[in-house]
Amino acid sequence: MNVIKVKNKEEMSQLAAKHIIKKVTDAPHSVLGLATGSTPKETYKELVKDYIRNGTDYSLVKTINLDEYVGLSSENKSSYHYFMKKHLFGYLNIKENNRYIPNGETEDLKEVCLQYDQLIEKMVVDLQLLGIGRNGHIGFNEPGTSFNTKTHVVKLAHATRQSNSRFFNSIDEVPTHAITMGISSILKSKEILLLVSGSHKAPAMKHLIENEAIDVQFPASALKKHHHVTIIADCEALSLVSSYVGEN
Ligand code: GLP
Repeated sequence: MNVIKVKNKEEMSQLAAKHIIKKVTDAPHSVLGLATGSTPKETYKELVKDYIRNGTDYSLVKTINLDEYVGLSSENKSSYHYFMKKHLFGYLNIKENNRYIPNGETEDLKEVCLQYDQLIEKMVVDLQLLGIGRNGHIGFNEPGTSFNTKTHVVKLAHATRQSNSRFFNSIDEVPTHAITMGISSILKSKEILLLVSGSHKAPAMKHLIENEAIDVQFPASALKKHHHVTIIADCEALSLVSSYVGEN
């Protein structure tokens, strides 16, 4: 894992956006694996800024998102469908039928998972954007999830619901379950870009960087099995890491 240390979230977002823009410019048919949450928000803002200023073309790009809550309609303001529309899809020229997000709204979630796996098999992700949960989750793969799992329905950890309750009116509104791409699918991506910002993520970063063990209790440790992972993390996120990491 290559760790790039940046000053703050702004720098993290600019660098991540630069990386994505280069990928898309070099390979216009790129498949981007996308994430949600507070972490990639400014990166998406940078992509939008660039699109308006420089007209980077996304008309051939395909996107596939990591996860979605179970039981929220795509119109629900806390759904990841809504998030993606609000922060990215509403601006760039990514064709509607080239964007994929798991459908957490239907009755037959098993079928949704199966279809998503078929999709992942077909579309190899060129660049997967990731955030990390405080408990080390990636996507919604909570601690204890086997690294072999494909797309599946998860029961969200209490800590995750609590942490994500900031996007809802109260914790009671946070869905108890979500659909997520499995870790084995995430690891199939050709390249992974993990973004981390803020002191609340510092313990997770310390664990990820200083602990060599690959352990299902800390899902992000699976990334050590991948040959092309770049972590862009800010000073606060790296504040507990004592070993050397490269400055940008
Ligand atoms: C959420 C999402 C993850 C995200 C993580 C961190 O639960 N399912 O994909 O990376 O938690 O979120 P944030 O960026 O808001 O800290």
